[in-house]
Amino acid sequence: MDIRRLTDRLGGLAFGGDYNPEQWDEQVWKQDDELMRRARVNLATVGVFSWALLEPEEGRYDFDWLDAHLDRLHANGVAVDLATPTASPPPWFTLAHPDALPVRPDGTRLTHGSRDTYCLTAPAYRRAARRIAGALAERYGDHPALALWHVHNEYVTLCLCDHTAAAFRVWLRARHGSLDALNEAWGTAFWSQRYTSWEQILPPRDSQWHRNPGQALDFSRFWSDETLAAYREQRDAIRAHSDRPVTTNLMVPSYQNLDLWAFGREVDLVSIDHYPGAPGVDAAAHAAFDADRARSFAGGGPWLLMEQGTNTVYAGGRVLAKEPGDILRHSLAHIARGSEGALFFQWRQSRAGAEQWHSAMVPHAGADSRTFREVTATGEAVARLGELAGSTVRAEVAVLHDSDAWWAMDIDGLPSSELDYFAALSRAHRALWEAGRTVDFAHPEHDLSRYRLVIAPALFLLTDAGAGNLRRYVAAGGTLLVQHFSGMVNERLHARLGGYPAAPLREALGIRVEEYRPLRQDEQITLSDGSTADSWSESLSTEGAETLAAYTHGMLAGSPALTRHDFGSGYGWYLSTRLDDTGYAALVGRLLTEAGVAPELPGLPPGVEAVARHAPDGRRWLLLLNHRDDAVPLPRPGHDLLTDGPLRELPPGGCAVLRAH
Ligand code: GLA
Repeated sequence: MDIRRLTDRLGGLAFGGDYNPEQWDEQVWKQDDELMRRARVNLATVGVFSWALLEPEEGRYDFDWLDAHLDRLHANGVAVDLATPTASPPPWFTLAHPDALPVRPDGTRLTHGSRDTYCLTAPAYRRAARRIAGALAERYGDHPALALWHVHNEYVTLCLCDHTAAAFRVWLRARHGSLDALNEAWGTAFWSQRYTSWEQILPPRDSQWHRNPGQALDFSRFWSDETLAAYREQRDAIRAHSDRPVTTNLMVPSYQNLDLWAFGREVDLVSIDHYPGAPGVDAAAHAAFDADRARSFAGGGPWLLMEQGTNTVYAGGRVLAKEPGDILRHSLAHIARGSEGALFFQWRQSRAGAEQWHSAMVPHAGADSRTFREVTATGEAVARLGELAGSTVRAEVAVLHDSDAWWAMDIDGLPSSELDYFAALSRAHRALWEAGRTVDFAHPEHDLSRYRLVIAPALFLLTDAGAGNLRRYVAAGGTLLVQHFSGMVNERLHARLGGYPAAPLREALGIRVEEYRPLRQDEQITLSDGSTADSWSESLSTEGAETLAAYTHGMLAGSPALTRHDFGSGYGWYLSTRLDDTGYAALVGRLLTEAGVAPELPGLPPGVEAVARHAPDGRRWLLLLNHRDDAVPLPRPGHDLLTDGPLRELPPGGCAVLRAH
């Protein structure tokens, strides 16, 4: 489906948020209409948690109230992103189908009373979800207000019940074909775990100590596939009645429950929710990290920020207050990186219910508030950016991001608890972000030829195909940095024998890792080039690579720590320890220079973000965000769309969108 239809339909970029009118009355709806016009809202997500109202008892629907809201929104010039309400089954459903309540790894079955209390594999739940999705699509599939379908809400609930066990076995049969193959893959010869019938196999529930790693990894894969199947069922039930694009709001959290590459292929539009966990420049870096991931999962095409908070988010067990200006800065941070708009959870702050203290576009205080004034200013800013619709972002650097490698590294029993996939991934991105370069994420088996530099910060698991692809990338002229503990196992989690990393990759790197040697907790080491490192070291020998820095401590004294291999037309770099932040930034800077990757806008001081959006016809815009508290003169003045005037200097904390064509 052509996603341009969404922005064409909206007449520009999307602005708005989750709208829950069922929590209010007519007087408030009238006020909503007026305030939405003031804030330039053009898209409202409706019905996310409305199952109990839409289907008050099994099979009996009440759509009248929703008809009225859709008609009212349409009359007010607001398009609708209509949700299926399946993230929160009503109490009547769970009482009728107690087997559809989720079971935790310890065997506890949850009860209703919150949200997301459903088992995704329970047949009754899947039937009910398909039914309500189909009923909504039948009624509203061609409603004039309808611009987008929003399946479910943040697929997240995990369940380890007997339905899950049965579905897991079906998935395992399809993957492994025979019990012998499964036993071999999972290494069940260890600890007497050999299975002699499929019925003996369970999902990874709580057990005495380390669980079988193969079982844990296969379960993660299975759960992601099962979730995707549940999404597809709803999507197809909708498509039977409607030709509008379909999405589901994905989370891009610091843990991984789904293969987001796979979801990116199945949705008509990638949409994500983003809630930063820290204030200030950390929030800006986090927004860039999530936005770059979203764009990458969208194959580099347009995507949409479906949810963010206005002045508060939950972080570290407390509400974190955003600073004045953050609403605009955070919205533009996502738009800069390819989002076709900026939406919020939620339009009006609830006066009752579980999230009554969560922020909104209209806070409890009402329209006479800093928050609503900033929302209105942001809505006006977004409305001025219509010409950006459909333009995309280009990057010359990629960070490798692989779901299997992430799941594999989350499994217990690794040689160090400091091996952390998410930390390594976000650190690589942060160093590139601070260096002013735009970053894509890519899968190790993707075509990488468009990138001058590729960083593999944590490729613990690497397939033969991935290792071969990386070798070819270097041979053809790419610059690749591989970091420690990469290429250690194949897709079955079997260790690579004869030296790490996986053989084809080792050739491109010109090294052979013989032994891993985690450093003691809090131990810091100094390398021969003066940089300091911690947490990890490896004993390796070079097989063609040159040593750029060597260890200076203990039995590793004199052996290589950082290497570079002149291979084919490119360079394969290997870093076998964890450099401190300064050393890592210096290494990334050196790689960028050697690979010839220029900043988006050379001449900017640190703390000013610049990202370009490109239209297919050659038009180009430069989005600038000043995270500093001083004004910054622009190396190249230009016409700013936000103020519709010339701009020579970015004010402290200020933003600009310059026409650069
Ligand atoms: C998520 C959900 C929303 C809301 C917000 C705020 O993103 O999708 O329904 O709960 O978090 O907590």
